[in-house]
Amino acid sequence: MDKSTIICRCEEINIDELETAMRLGTETFDDIKRMTRCGMGPCQSKICMNLVNKLISDFTGNPISDILPARMRMPLRITRIGTLAGDLTEETSVISVFNETDTEEGSGSHG
Ligand code: FES
Repeated sequence: MDKSTIICRCEEINIDELETAMRLGTETFDDIKRMTRCGMGPCQSKICMNLVNKLISDFTGNPISDILPARMRMPLRITRIGTLAGDLTEETSVISVFNETDTEEGSGSHG
């Protein structure tokens, strides 16, 4: 694979940068995250973590199952503020958030 291939789209980190981090001694996703910012973007590593773990596995020769899992912070999925505030009546699935239609469009309620 081309070394310029972007692995973390959020932070625009490519394979070359990740391999440089591994040559400097990083051995886990969290190590790479601290050194490169890979995984610190809006998706919070949901897109890039598995790809990085595969690169670590290829680089070290260790199976992916031997690589320490990344520390994940809450919330682990897209969550509405209302749910965090205690409104448990809201639909909170990721699909419902993305499929939401804005019924107040044009009302000026969004700023
Ligand atoms: S793709 Fe890496 S943080 Fe989003």
